[in-house]
Amino acid sequence: MAQLAIKGGPKLFPKGWVGPRWPMYGEEEKRQLQEVLDGNVWGATGLGPKIRELNEKWAAYCGTRRSVALANGTVTMELALRAKGIGPGDEVIVPAWTFMATAIVVPQVGATPVFVDVDANNMCIDPARIEEAISERTRAIIPVHFGGHPCDMDRIMATARKHNLVVIEDAAQSHGAIWRGYKMGKFGDCGSYSFQQAKNLQCGEGGSVVTDDEELADRLLYSLSKFGRGTGKNYKPYTHYELAGNENMTEFTAAIVLAQLTRLEEQTERRAQRAQVLREWVSGIEGIEPLPVDPRVDRHGYHLFQFRYDKEAFGGLDKYAFAKAVTAEGVWCNTMYERPLYEEPMYDQERMIVKGTDIPIRVMPCPECERAAADLLCFPQTMLLAELDELEMLPSAIQKVQENVGELV
Ligand SMILES: Cc1ncc(COP(=O)(O)O)c(C=O)c1O
Repeated sequence: MAQLAIKGGPKLFPKGWVGPRWPMYGEEEKRQLQEVLDGNVWGATGLGPKIRELNEKWAAYCGTRRSVALANGTVTMELALRAKGIGPGDEVIVPAWTFMATAIVVPQVGATPVFVDVDANNMCIDPARIEEAISERTRAIIPVHFGGHPCDMDRIMATARKHNLVVIEDAAQSHGAIWRGYKMGKFGDCGSYSFQQAKNLQCGEGGSVVTDDEELADRLLYSLSKFGRGTGKNYKPYTHYELAGNENMTEFTAAIVLAQLTRLEEQTERRAQRAQVLREWVSGIEGIEPLPVDPRVDRHGYHLFQFRYDKEAFGGLDKYAFAKAVTAEGVWCNTMYERPLYEEPMYDQERMIVKGTDIPIRVMPCPECERAAADLLCFPQTMLLAELDELEMLPSAIQKVQENVGELV
């Protein structure tokens, strides 16, 4: 009789998922939403009371002067690039291993994405590879604090200062992470957060730019997200100065982020503690190696618990088949991206034409991204909120597949 669930055997964890329901909500979400319903401001093009409160509280949490809540964590980066005047003829350095949003915003403003390799230790952009990719056209870098692990912001900022580059930190996966005393978004010109449903702080769809640059914040808040209405004395609801769309968050969405924010600190601490336990448990399994944490990281944000998978310790079973077998046991194992971004059909060409602009695509050698496509796996953040008896299912499921791998190879 088969042992593995994928072969019809008994499921190790019949409940089907490890950790609490996600997204989670409680009385605070209901209270916040009711307040919006009862008030007469539901939209107010992003200047309503909940948005204002969120902008204040999120800036305070991140330790920045300002925060500007917007529709999502993609438009945040696109508008930041626009605000910094980046466009056709410019190059923007991005990691080749990240969610597509990081790179998609670059041609959206007419600039060239330059794909650069990541550091195998943490899957964040490799500062040494950034230096090699800089040309006379380079104007900006978008480092991604991947999976919640902060990038080496010391080296990235030193490079940026040396070459006079704009830095937009993509912090979509790193709420609450701390690098040498500071939260993400504090180092570069600004940080871009996503509040999309899977993120550690979420409201379904939403995002925010955090920054110490008042001028940048005003430009995003009053003009670039609001039909180009200008800033300061120029701002007038029916006067338009520059090409811009409507990228506002609603009061309902802001109300949900405010409610979820009351749990963020406790959840971030819990994820970090659970990750430590899980690290010890899975490190004892041959062929499984969690990614290390840079000693300069004060707190990992743990959007993902990432680990390397050595198929030789699993009878040659490839990572996709392994992840399917673990998932069949009731423990969702995520295979993440199938390829580096430059192999995506959209970017797998020498140039692309966007709104009449001819945009060349530049790719640096990225052996670590290619390796990750074959051997990197992760457990998502929600599992790190689990009770220990459920968390224990993760190593148990891996071990069960390893012990019975003969059923699959
Ligand atoms: C690294 C990264 N950047 C940007 C985004 C885009 O955020 P959003 O979905 O809010 O547009 C995401 C996730 O969705 C992400 O993981």
